[in-house]
Amino acid sequence: MARATSGGWRPWRRWSTRTRLLVITIAPVVAMCLAFLWYSYQSRQQEARAELAERGQVLARMLADSSEYAIVSGRYEGLQRTIRDVLQSDAAIWQVALFDARRRPLLRLSGRAVGAPERRYYEAPVVKRVIWIATSAAPAGQQGMTIETVGYLQVRMAPQALLTRQAHRFYVELLVACAGLLLCGALAFRLSQGFDTSLQASLAALRAADAEKRQLLRRVNTAVEAERQSIALEIHDELNAVLVAARLEAQRIAALARDVHPPALAQDIGTRAQTIARLALGLYNSGRALVRRLRPEVLDMLGLRGAVEEMVRQYEDSHPDCRFACQADEDLDGIAPEVAITAYRVAQEALSNVVKHARARHAHVRMARRGGMLHIEIEDDGTGFDAAARREGIGIAGMRERVQALDGSFALASDPVAGGTRIAIALPL
Ligand SMILES: Nc1ncnc2c1ncn2[C@@H]1O[C@H](COP(=O)(O)OP(=O)(O)OP(=O)(O)O)[C@@H](O)[C@H]1O
Ligand SMILES: [Mg+2]
Repeated sequence: MARATSGGWRPWRRWSTRTRLLVITIAPVVAMCLAFLWYSYQSRQQEARAELAERGQVLARMLADSSEYAIVSGRYEGLQRTIRDVLQSDAAIWQVALFDARRRPLLRLSGRAVGAPERRYYEAPVVKRVIWIATSAAPAGQQGMTIETVGYLQVRMAPQALLTRQAHRFYVELLVACAGLLLCGALAFRLSQGFDTSLQASLAALRAADAEKRQLLRRVNTAVEAERQSIALEIHDELNAVLVAARLEAQRIAALARDVHPPALAQDIGTRAQTIARLALGLYNSGRALVRRLRPEVLDMLGLRGAVEEMVRQYEDSHPDCRFACQADEDLDGIAPEVAITAYRVAQEALSNVVKHARARHAHVRMARRGGMLHIEIEDDGTGFDAAARREGIGIAGMRERVQALDGSFALASDPVAGGTRIAIALPL
């Protein structure tokens, strides 16, 4: 598995799979419960206030209806008794006050309500209704019913008693929700026990398989490199040596041909011998290039930085339509051979892809050592491609596998519309 390179505050990365699973299961339930409780608390508060307002209005109207006689007659004992009875029966009434038509206070009685009263009060007019009957005593022109406001009755309520009652109901809900949550948590905990064990076992098996695969890849890569070296050696020692000998022989034939008669035959033999010598030289040069490609001994001689710079220089010389550049840290010495060969091969394949597919105008290789890792980026401004689509080649897959075999990370980004491809690898040192 590729190593994640980004950090940040992520405490859950230290949690076990079981803890994560429990959090994933329980967190939404807790969130839902909290949302429900909050909603329930708010609606209960609103309910209590609405109920208080309704009661206040009804009481004010009812007491106003009973106050007409007291105001008209100026005798308040009966009304006081009635109001006291009402105050006694309802603990939410804070005060009842009676005013005359000019709003001068006539009576004020306080209830047994606790807590601060509401700011608003509920008021109802005290009206005197007179029904006139057409007699000689009736004032001239007066008939039917007249209504006159003779005073006002105000009721002020205190919400605490109602809110406390609602709060008690809310606490019961809270308790039930907590018990439900605890039950849910306990159940999830119990159920996750076996799951965690089998998951841990599967994960361990997966990790072991992954480690084994990396180990195998490393061995394969080492074997491939060794095989390449031995082929390079064969070509160098056998084929190239024979080609050198063949070229020398051809040159000697050309020299001997000068003494041959007639001169026309001598010239023909000389020309053919020179052709053989030229062909042998061409083959020899191809053989040398092949040897260099198969066995980057330049790595041993120049180190990773020098070898990659040399490779980039060769690409720059042989592909004039694209500018190749290399930027590398000074501090790239002492890198383990396994890491160096992987980095070299990745750069080699990425650059080969640039010339094979990208039709780029610029290509850059950047190498740096940072935080115990070797970072390499190969970027071009070519056509780009759809990296998610299935492809025939094995170059990119090979790069990825090589990097992963060393526990490194591999990232490829390419844009087939805007163009450009960027490969970034990081190898632990
Ligand atoms: N730098 C690039 N720019 C544009 N296309 C690219 C680039 N690199 C890769 N590709 C595309 O991705 C494909 C896969 O690349 P990959 O290196 O895996 O295979 P290949 O180069 O076609 O064959 P080989 O197996 O010889 O490497 C290429 O065929 C090409 O279409
Ligand atoms: Mg390729």
